[in-house]
Order: sequence, then C-alpha cells, then structure tokens
Amino acid sequence: MPTQYDEVLYPNLPFGQTHPDRLATLAILFGMEPASLPGCRVLEVGCGNGENLIPMAFQYPAGEFLGIDAADIAVRAGNQEIAGLGLTNIRLEHRDIMDGVPAAGTFDYVIAHGFYSWVPEPVRDRLLAIIQASLAPQGVAFVSYNALPGGRLRQMFREMMLFHVGETKELAPRIHGAREMVQWFTACQADLGGSGLLHSQVESIMERQPEVLYHDEVGQIYHPVYFQEFLAHAGRFGLQLLSEANYHDTQPGKLPAAVVAQVDRVAGDNRILRDQYFDFLKCRMFRQTLLCHQEIVLPAAALVERVPRLYACSAAKPVSARLDLRPGVAEEFRGGHGSGVTTAHPFTKAVMHLLCEAWPETRSFADLLASATQLTSEDANPAGLAEILLATYSAGVIELHAEPAQCVAQVSRFPVATKLARSQARRGRLIATMRHTTIEARDEHVRLLIGLLDGEHDSAALARELSPALHLPEADLAQAIQSHLELLANAGLLVG
Ligand SMILES: C[S@@+](CC[C@H](N)C(=O)[O-])C[C@H]1O[C@@H](n2cnc3c(N)ncnc32)[C@H](O)[C@@H]1O
Repeated sequence: MPTQYDEVLYPNLPFGQTHPDRLATLAILFGMEPASLPGCRVLEVGCGNGENLIPMAFQYPAGEFLGIDAADIAVRAGNQEIAGLGLTNIRLEHRDIMDGVPAAGTFDYVIAHGFYSWVPEPVRDRLLAIIQASLAPQGVAFVSYNALPGGRLRQMFREMMLFHVGETKELAPRIHGAREMVQWFTACQADLGGSGLLHSQVESIMERQPEVLYHDEVGQIYHPVYFQEFLAHAGRFGLQLLSEANYHDTQPGKLPAAVVAQVDRVAGDNRILRDQYFDFLKCRMFRQTLLCHQEIVLPAAALVERVPRLYACSAAKPVSARLDLRPGVAEEFRGGHGSGVTTAHPFTKAVMHLLCEAWPETRSFADLLASATQLTSEDANPAGLAEILLATYSAGVIELHAEPAQCVAQVSRFPVATKLARSQARRGRLIATMRHTTIEARDEHVRLLIGLLDGEHDSAALARELSPALHLPEADLAQAIQSHLELLANAGLLVG
C-alpha cells in the first residue's frame, strides 16, 4: 500500500553525522573497540531512496549495507541507482519494520535518522528492538529525534500551521498555507523579531524544502521527547547513551560559566542529568544520539588518551594573514557556526595552522606532532597535543576521524572526482562529497565539469570541453576552471 512518503517523496541526502567514521570516532573516544570501517556492516532504518547509504557503500566496497524503508517508490529509485553504479555490497528493501526485518546477522552500525519522532509508539518500540537485536557487541547506533523543551516551540508553529491548512493534503496548497500562517505570525510579532528562538524557528520553517516541511512539520506524527525520556526508552531495550553525534553539542558552549557551575553542582558526575539541564537552558529542539549495548562500561567523558588513534582536520581559517608563533601573540582561528579559538600558546597556534593548511585532508597524530614540534622548536609533547586536539574538538573547531580523509586538498594535473559524483552530476544538482556532505551544483557548467573529472582530462582538455558552455576568452576560461576546481577540492569532492 502506498505510504505518505510515496505520495510526496522525501528528499534524502548524505548526513555526515550518521557516517560510520563519525560513529567509530566517538566509540573510540569513549573506550570502545568499534569495527574497522572498510569491512563494516551497516543497517539503515528509514533509508528512503538510499542517498545516505549509497555513498557509504561506494566508499567501502568490502563493507555490507542494508537499507529498509516502507516507501516503495523511494526504494525502487534507490535500487535503480545502485544497479546503475554497479554496486553489489548494498541492497534496499521495501518493507515496513512492523512486518519484521530480514535475518541478516549483526550490524556494526545502525542508523535511524529522521525516524523516531515521526512514527507511532509501536514503531518506535520496534526500532529500538531491532537495534537491540541486530547491533554487534561493540556496535554503535545513531537515532535522531525531536527534543524537548525546544520541541514545544516547534509544536506551537506546527499546531498553528495544521489549524490553518485543515484537511488540505496536496503538497503545494498545504505548504503555501503553512508558510502563510507563519508569515502572518511574523508580521504580527514584529516586536519579537529580536527574540532569537522564535526568529530562528520562523527562519527555519520558511527555508525548509516543501517536501521536508510537509513531512517533518505538518506530517501526521510529531513526537518530541526529553533526552532523559529517550534514554529511559532505549534503556528498556538494553541500550545506553554513548554520546551525541556532534560531540561539541554536549559542551556548555556559550552558556554563562556561573550557570554551568551551578548545573555541575546539581548534576554531580551524572552526565545524563547535566545534558538534560543543558537541553533546558539551550531550549534544545533536536538530538542525534549514539547508543551502544548497556553491558559496555563507559567512562564519564571522552578519553584524552584515545586521541592519538585518530586523525584531525579543520575547516577553520586563521584571521591574520601571517602566523606569528611567538609566545604572548594571540592568533584567532574561526570555524563554522560561530566556533573559533583564540590562543597565544605557540604549540596550539602551530597545530591549528597545520590543520587549516591541510584542509580538507586529515593529519595523523604522529604527523601533526612531528610537524608542530618542528615549527615551534619545542620538545615533543604527545600528551599536550592530545589535550589540544580534544579541547578544540569539544569547541567544534576541529574534527576528529577514525580514518584518514579520502579526498585531496590540491588540484592535480588530471583531477579526479569519484564515479558516484560524476554520475550524480550527470543526473542532478546534488553531489555527495568524500566528507559525506552534499554540494549543490546549480550551474550546468559546474555539473559538466564534475562529470569530466575522470583523471583523463587536464586543464587544456577541460577547457576544450567547457568552452562551448562558458563562452569566455581563453585566459578567463582557464582561470574560471581553476577556481571551480579549487572550490570542489575545498568541499572534499576531489580524490586525485
Ligand atoms: C522523515 S523520513 C527520513 C528519511 C531519511 N532517513 C532522512 O533522514 O532523510 C522517514 C522515512 O521513514 C520511513 N518509514 C516510516 N515508517 C516506517 C516503517 N514503519 N517502516 C519502514 N520505514 C518507515 C518513511 O518511508 C521515510 O522514508
């Protein structure tokens, strides 16, 4: 029987936070021994058309990937793409999880993104039962859900929109009505324009793709939960909190230090209670929680001694044009989403400088230690480096990874994008990067360019192919191609 997701197709995407590398990184930091990535087994529940799972299967040919979804049209589209790419290590099954899941052994990583809060209670129970039964002993599950108390704010808008759209089912009028209601609300609440929470919610509703708004905000089911409530539910299925998929989300961030100190006094060493208070104070709306089996003994916080096993990279940019390593001279490095670090500590400055220069490539701990030690002429201090990396990771300024990035920072003579990216560029605008993110290639000539990155076209050949589309003088054409290639490299799209 067709589901609502067959009637209005949900636009699926790769989500970096669900990637096995992210799950393995946090498992390592919390003392677990997760499965190695190249041969990993991954199950995704509610996989839609597989846009999240297919790039993983492409990246790990020796791994095994199974996606399950009740929407027939989405699953069929995904299986068609899989066949076109010639992938044999992934299959998508059209199936309602209430009808059971195929007997397929255990999985090292189980993903359920955008699922829990949008299905009825028996399906939520079934999801957790599936995770409990299918997760390998050292496996990690990713479950995202709408969180409280911020979910109440979302609910307020949901209820106004639902009231206004009434029984209208078709996508266009339903979304028109939903947005109209929010616009009316905004116009009448001009005084609240500066109120961050309301304002950001209005912005997020207005920016949301119609199909996403249709299912996520004005869909049939909306079930936000408190963090503690979710963990109690998971606990009934033998599962416990490992971490949040975005580790920096678990940190106090911009909360006033005095308030954090008081929360710490109340919560003691109970990290769940501490996080619950932070959710209240941040008016949290969404969570992406990693779970593991309850029998595993976890430390209260990420282990600094595990950091040397990981790889680091940073998309942050130095504010000053020339790095000054002298002690006492502060340097600022700015990352995305308001993150950043300002430091006068020579070794930290050297580490940040090396990571910024390498982006989007990762650097191993040993390599970073050697290079930063050489730059600063200090004695090698591995413990100090591990602390710097964990602190900047906690602040959201750097990323840590379980394995080295598979993309390259420099544009080579014969640049290469993956077969997957080239195939996606021929079919549409959304292209998966090697960082498991998406870029939107709006211009046709950029899509054409990506399609040509097969390692057999140098700059002259690329210019010849693109010249009919770009109509530029030779020098400008070469410059435009080079700039595009640099942008693609920066986004993690080039592999050679
Ligand atoms: C909100 S979408 C999220 C899709 C994708 N995980 C994402 O985040 O982009 C929810 C998905 O769960 C699927 N789904 C809902 N109930 C299901 C069930 N009982 N069994 C299997 N799939 C289900 C829907 O068909 C839909 O594709």
